[in-house]
Amino acid sequence: MPGNFFALMEAQAPYWIVADQLKTKGRYTFDDTLTHSFTAHPKVDPRTEEMIFFGYNMETKPFVNYAVVDKYGKKGPSVGINLDRPIMMHDFAITENYSIFLDLPLIFNKKNIFDKSKAGFFEFKANSYARIGVLPRHSKDGNEMRWFKIKTCYCFHTANAWEDGDFIELYLARYEDFDLYALDEALHIPKLYRYRLDLRTEGVELAVEEKEVSPIPVEFPVINESLMGIRSRFMYGVSLRKESFSVVKFDIDTNQTLVYDFAGTDLGGEFVFIPHPNARTEDDGWLIGFRYIEAKDASEVVILKANDMTLQAVLDLPQRVPQGFHGRWLTRQMLNSQTA
Ligand SMILES: [Fe+2]
Repeated sequence: MPGNFFALMEAQAPYWIVADQLKTKGRYTFDDTLTHSFTAHPKVDPRTEEMIFFGYNMETKPFVNYAVVDKYGKKGPSVGINLDRPIMMHDFAITENYSIFLDLPLIFNKKNIFDKSKAGFFEFKANSYARIGVLPRHSKDGNEMRWFKIKTCYCFHTANAWEDGDFIELYLARYEDFDLYALDEALHIPKLYRYRLDLRTEGVELAVEEKEVSPIPVEFPVINESLMGIRSRFMYGVSLRKESFSVVKFDIDTNQTLVYDFAGTDLGGEFVFIPHPNARTEDDGWLIGFRYIEAKDASEVVILKANDMTLQAVLDLPQRVPQGFHGRWLTRQMLNSQTA
């Protein structure tokens, strides 16, 4: 597994690819030990080189399975997480010792498949509960999960999480309300939120604080991934407002935001953070992403400098890149490390 690349979606096993040839080798099942679905957002801990992942399904309990792959590529046992409803769980987060799960009420409703008045089979139940789960990374029992009840919301993507003494801090893009089938509506544009979970609390109501980091809406939050699972000062996201597309940098030490505004209604997808090879600071690097120009029906690659959010380059592409895609930066060294 180390030195291999996966193309991911959340309904089944990873597809093993040769990244620089766009060649598919086939499904990757960790020597037939993966018997359930696999998230599109596994986390690699840069310190231990473990890959931590989950997979959800809509049919059978446990609705979520969780596992850790060690740095040699060996998958540990899958741990069942017993939710009492089938939900869409798109992303999660890790800290040095814990994995953080989001049990949010975007619920699979089989009946909707046969109901023409419904837009699709996932339904956001605004009156249902929402909670954040904390499980020791190497737990072998999903019942060890500690659940923190939060205000109902939805979240596609987390930014990062870390431990701070007896607390866990979790940053994510939070939707106040949610309609999977009307994502362009302003009402549903998410904001970066901080959750602070108090691990000292016990009983039914575990203590959690919730705070909006900034009123600027953002999706696709990213960090300098060398800090995955430990404290990161800077987070970046894209603001998909109808009136203007922008890329936003959050500094949680100073509560400042820096915005690069494209001053137009053209949209973009995720902007990925690429560290400078000799970086001395967390934000020494670039943000790279796609922007779609509707009038030309064409896309361009945009490069911003992350420390001051200034535009460095715009590269025209010969064809449109579909909206909504995540990105991934691979170095030549990483590509050369691929196993045959
Ligand atoms: Fe995603």
